[in-house]
Parts: sequence; C-alpha cells; structure tokens
Amino acid sequence: MLTLNQLHPAPGGVVRAAEAYARPAGHPRPDGHDRAADLAPDGPAPHVTVNMVSSIDGAATLAGRVGTLTGPADQELLHVLRSLCDVLLVGAATIRAEGYGPVRALPELVERRRELGQAPAPRLAVLSRALDLDLGSSAFTAAVERPLVLTTEQAAPERLVAARAVAEVLVVGEDTVDLVAAVGRLAAEGLPRVLSEGGPRVLGGLFAADLVDELCLAVSPVVVAGAEPRITSGPSLATPHPMRLGAVYERDGFLFTRWLRSPRG
Ligand SMILES: NC(=O)c1ccc[n+]([C@@H]2O[C@H](COP(=O)([O-])OP(=O)(O)OC[C@H]3O[C@@H](n4cnc5c(N)ncnc54)[C@H](OP(=O)(O)O)[C@@H]3O)[C@@H](O)[C@H]2O)c1
Repeated sequence: MLTLNQLHPAPGGVVRAAEAYARPAGHPRPDGHDRAADLAPDGPAPHVTVNMVSSIDGAATLAGRVGTLTGPADQELLHVLRSLCDVLLVGAATIRAEGYGPVRALPELVERRRELGQAPAPRLAVLSRALDLDLGSSAFTAAVERPLVLTTEQAAPERLVAARAVAEVLVVGEDTVDLVAAVGRLAAEGLPRVLSEGGPRVLGGLFAADLVDELCLAVSPVVVAGAEPRITSGPSLATPHPMRLGAVYERDGFLFTRWLRSPRG
C-alpha cells in the first residue's frame, strides 16, 4: 500500500496514501467549516477532487500524452484516488489520448468501499459534446459499473443511440454540458464523491464553474520546456481563483500537493 513522506503540515511523518486522502487535508478552515466534512451518509453534497500531474516547469503533457511525466508513485496514487471516489469524470479528449481501460478500485480498498455503501468500482463518466468515442474500448465494454456519458442536446441522434448501447447517457445542457448541473446529477444518482482526471479543458471548466473542492497536483521531477499545455486551459478566470495549501507529501522525487477551495475574497 502506497506510503508518502509528509512535508506539510507536521513534517517528518510517513502516511498511508489511502488513509491520508480519505479525509480532508490540512487544518480546518479558521471558521471551522470544511465542505469535505459536509459529506454525510444521507443526501451528501457533491465533493469534487481533481487529480493532475505536471512537470516542474508546468507542462501537463509531452507529445500529447501524460506518459513521460508520470511514475510509479504517481500511478499508485491515481489508483488510490480512484478507489476512494464514486465516479471518475474525464473529458473525451483525455479518454481519446490516454486510451482508458476499465476503471477499477484497488482490491485492498474494495472492502472499505463496501462498508461505506459504495459500489465495488467507481463509475466512469465521460464528458463529450461530439460523442466521438471509442465505444468498443474496454473502458466501456469491460466496465465493472456501467459508464456514464454526459452530453448535450446537440448530440447527433445516431451517436446517442450507439452510446446508449454501452453507457447511461445524461443530457445536461443545450450546446455545452452545464458542469454545475452535471455534478448535481451525479450526486442525485448516488455519486457525490467526484474525482476528475481532467484534462486541462475540463479542469478549466470546473474552475470557471467554481466546482473544485480539492486539487491534487503531483509535480513530476522533470523539465520539458516547449509550449506544452498547462493543467488548465480555456478562458482566463476574471480574477485568480484562491486556494489554500492542505498538504504536501514526497515520494520518489515527486511532490504531491493538495490544494483546497478557499472562499472567494
Ligand atoms: N497532466 C495531467 O494530469 C493530464 C490529465 C488529463 C489529461 N491530460 C492530457 O490532456 C490532453 C487532453 O486534454 P484537453 O484539455 O485537450 O481535453 P479534455 O479536457 O480531456 O477533454 C475536452 C473534451 O471534453 C469534452 N468536454 C469538456 N467539457 C465539456 C462540456 N462542458 N460540455 C461538453 N463537452 C465537454 C469535449 O469533448 P468532445 O470533443 O467529444 O465534444 C471536449 O473536446 C491529453 O493530451 C491528455 O494526455 C493531462
């Protein structure tokens, strides 16, 4: 089971990733309120965590893939975070670039999921306007839990039919998926613990909609230069979105940072 060296708060300790990431990071807010702690067994509010990796110089990809930025500890943490969530929200371009397989929980965390009333595996939820998806891929055909596809009223009817053969399709918005409504629909479906793995356009949209409760950002010990995308893209926010540092861990030269939503000034 993945362990991490804690650097902040209270440096010097070693934490088990599954335990550390299962509870809110850092100290409670000064007013004592933390949205993560609002997750109650009956009718919980949605909680959105995002997991991304970047190079030291801020690149989110190299040659269109995450591949060379990631490493064993980062991959293990990715699977831990998946094992803690109800639903994994991913943009269609990331699915196309990274070639997702079936989303599963780590075997050692399945019992914990059962105790919490979660399904054995998280559900995959793909955001797509165009529905240009590889519906024959194992992400759909070998899924433990039926995937969701979140799309718009503009989706082509024949693509909707094809998607409905392998997934539950939710139409949430006229020409773009309304992310606030979508996250609300996921919570209403019994999937309040949302984990997003991006990509940058999805993360930009989640920040624009003020939906990100926690950003888990791994800094990979590499520099790539070039004009690679950052972890967010899309229109700039009118004002910088404040976040507060919840925790920092280290493993194998990677820095694992946890940033928590902070009330806007
Ligand atoms: N560093 C990291 O941690 C990380 C993480 C994930 C991905 N990546 C990389 O990022 C790249 C892909 O990211 P990206 O920013 O280009 O794309 P993305 O965010 O993965 O996906 C964008 C696509 O998602 C759909 N989408 C997003 N928001 C939507 C909305 N509100 N309504 C309807 N559809 C919506 C659209 O799909 P359609 O085109 O189907 O309409 C859109 O083209 C890949 O190279 C991947 O390797 C890096």
